[in-house]
Amino acid sequence: MGMTQNEMVEKNKKYTLSSWKSQSSWNPIAIEKAKGVYLWDTEGKKHLDWSSQLINVNIGHGNQYVNQAIQDQLAKFCYVSPSIATEARARLGEMLNEIVPMKDCKAFFTNGGAEAIENAMKIARLYTGRQKIITRYRSYHGGTFGAMTAGGDPRRLANEPGLPWIVYVHGPYAYRNPIYRNKTVEEGDSVIADLIEETILFEGPQNVAAILLEGYSGSSGIMQGGKVFWDRIQEICNKYNILLIIDEVMSGFGRTGKWFGINHQPQVKPDIMCLAKGITSAYVPLGAAVVSGEIASHFDDNVLWCGLTNSSHTLGCAAAVANIEVYQNDNLIKRSEEMGKNLYTELMKLHEKYQVVGEIRGIGLHYVIELVKNRGTRQPLSPFNSPLTEPMQKVAKILRENGLSTFVRWNWIFCAPPLIITEEQIQEGITIIERALSEAEKYYLE
Ligand SMILES: Cc1ncc(COP(=O)(O)O)c(C=O)c1O
Repeated sequence: MGMTQNEMVEKNKKYTLSSWKSQSSWNPIAIEKAKGVYLWDTEGKKHLDWSSQLINVNIGHGNQYVNQAIQDQLAKFCYVSPSIATEARARLGEMLNEIVPMKDCKAFFTNGGAEAIENAMKIARLYTGRQKIITRYRSYHGGTFGAMTAGGDPRRLANEPGLPWIVYVHGPYAYRNPIYRNKTVEEGDSVIADLIEETILFEGPQNVAAILLEGYSGSSGIMQGGKVFWDRIQEICNKYNILLIIDEVMSGFGRTGKWFGINHQPQVKPDIMCLAKGITSAYVPLGAAVVSGEIASHFDDNVLWCGLTNSSHTLGCAAAVANIEVYQNDNLIKRSEEMGKNLYTELMKLHEKYQVVGEIRGIGLHYVIELVKNRGTRQPLSPFNSPLTEPMQKVAKILRENGLSTFVRWNWIFCAPPLIITEEQIQEGITIIERALSEAEKYYLE
């Protein structure tokens, strides 16, 4: 310990690899301490965590209650084989049963979100005897081989051809999808769902195991369908006996102002839910594929061909139990809804003030600001699936220099702070974003 900032960065770069980038472009800040909604780098500079890191540290950094629960478990033991029973695993399974919108569900625990998706897809295939999975182009489901194919977002392209049995469909995106031209959002959502049904008919419904959708769209740009869309998805699943896999890895655990993103559509009945991120707020890695009672009972007499050395890791389960207690005891789900309203109001003021803000999308503490060169043409400030061009580079630089830690993709700025954020801290973030927007506004074309 005791490295200088330069040493830390240099050795991180020399001996380790960083995700989703060419390594020479990696220019990290070096963090020494984190508490609440703030991070401090080795030079003592304070950074406001405006994205809960990767939209996962939902309860904020350094929560003493969770730290203590992890230490208590550590003092007893931290791991036993997945075929051994533990209290932490029992308690977590029971708690999940109470909060997920599925009856008599059972959880298969993984190390993270992508593994939850991999196992959900396998379970869907084992249960239905069908092969194909329908998934959105604008979605992300993880970076492992199968999950990366399942995500339609361009991140999958480096892994092509990937798995053969994934079928992509267009999804709701009223701001840009041409299907919505000259239509209301509801009419567009309805056509999108009709096209999904048509795709299923082309693919053969008898071959389709599941439709896989994020409970609330996340890093692909937070573009979410409304009630009309979800009603039709449920109808299609019922009509053709297709399972509905809801990916709550990012949208779960209070992010959208409810326990799960799909709780905004209570009529929807998931058959499998994928959890990770906020389940432990990353205090220890953990994920889960949670299956309905009906699917679970199928495996009473059929082998569950799934396994991971670290499945049901005791430390991870203990961290998750403590996290769920924090969400409950500190009322964080309600808080996300309330602070979300405050954040939305502030973001809408930016939308009013700066022409360069094309659209604000999201709910709870889960928003994206979409920047455009012109509101009429909706030309993105930096093109889709390309390296950041000058205006967005400047935006990213201003945010970083002013101590706002978040992620910027193409023409989007993500706003997803920890659920413990206060109104004053929201204001602090908005002030920094405003600085970036006044620079971006110079690139607006009248
Ligand atoms: C919706 C969604 N699903 C799955 C994943 C993959 O989770 P992990 O990175 O924990 O494997 C992510 C990660 O960002 C995600 O946002």
